[in-house]
Amino acid sequence: MTGPTSTASLRPISTVAVLGAGTMGHGIAHVCALAGYTTLLFDVDPGVVGAALGKVDKNLQAGVDKGKLEATARARALEHLRGATDLAQACAGAQLVIEAVPERLELKHDVLGRAAAAAGPTAILATNTSSLCIARIAAGLPHPDRVIGTHFFNPVHIMKLLEVVVAEATAPDVLATVVDFGARIAKECITIKDSPGFATSRLGLVIGLEAIRMLEQGVGSAEDIDKAMTLGYGFPMGPLRLTDLVGLDVRLSIAEYLSTALAEGAHFRPPKLLRDLVAQGKLGKKSGEGFYRW
Ligand SMILES: NC(=O)c1ccc[n+]([C@@H]2O[C@H](COP(=O)([O-])OP(=O)(O)OC[C@H]3O[C@@H](n4cnc5c(N)ncnc54)[C@H](O)[C@@H]3O)[C@@H](O)[C@H]2O)c1
Repeated sequence: MTGPTSTASLRPISTVAVLGAGTMGHGIAHVCALAGYTTLLFDVDPGVVGAALGKVDKNLQAGVDKGKLEATARARALEHLRGATDLAQACAGAQLVIEAVPERLELKHDVLGRAAAAAGPTAILATNTSSLCIARIAAGLPHPDRVIGTHFFNPVHIMKLLEVVVAEATAPDVLATVVDFGARIAKECITIKDSPGFATSRLGLVIGLEAIRMLEQGVGSAEDIDKAMTLGYGFPMGPLRLTDLVGLDVRLSIAEYLSTALAEGAHFRPPKLLRDLVAQGKLGKKSGEGFYRW
């Protein structure tokens, strides 16, 4: 399988390390293991790793139960997937490292820095950031030309899109390898220039934040605002339900960043209601309540 940028040579990948085993990390590990990559999943919280492996098992079983996956493919995926209790151990044999830790620049920079020290010098370092500047995450790392954005969508084992974000320094063979990897894990890739919010978060957040402002102003109920977009515009899910699924804390971090990073920052100013719900620990599906009860 080759992608549209296949004139550049590909870096061989057999082992993937996924750092951060939360909402996104467990899904990324799922699709990597299912595609036959040896996959190591690490989190600072060992309890999260155990829970994440359990979720992958459950989601694979759901695929079998729905007739979408052979039982043998599920068994093979589970054989390819292992938890790791140490970042260096997870990265040591990996040719591709994908970080999915919380959306904080200094944290991502630190995690990829430690991954760079543990993995070989040609290992690709990918970030699942939803909005942060790839060049700033890569700044100061050894071989910053191997850093690239791989923006997955939630739930990762179901959503088809992989937004590949290319910094000015990203090497052509790194881009070609990641697009090829995207095809192998059954994703459709788009290639987007490194700019705040890329294509998807910038567009999605404008609608998501406006829906929250409308709820705040009593324009309609959460259900009716969501129906405005599902029934009126054919969106598969309303913007408030989607915010619950993404995580209110995740969306707040992105809004805070885009409100300062883009010239159009005013569109991204976080609504008070979003800040209040996050302060109350109402983070959406993962905490049991956001705009809806789960
Ligand atoms: N939630 C979404 O729908 C979504 C979609 C696309 C991209 N993203 C992006 O993916 C990234 C992760 O988001 P998430 O929703 O999975 O967050 P999450 O809070 O569900 O998971 C993050 C995990 O990282 C772990 N972690 C924290 N520090 C760590 C470290 N130093 N090393 C290893 N693990 C560490 C945490 O324990 C947690 O389990 C963020 O950059 C976010 O913007 C999220």
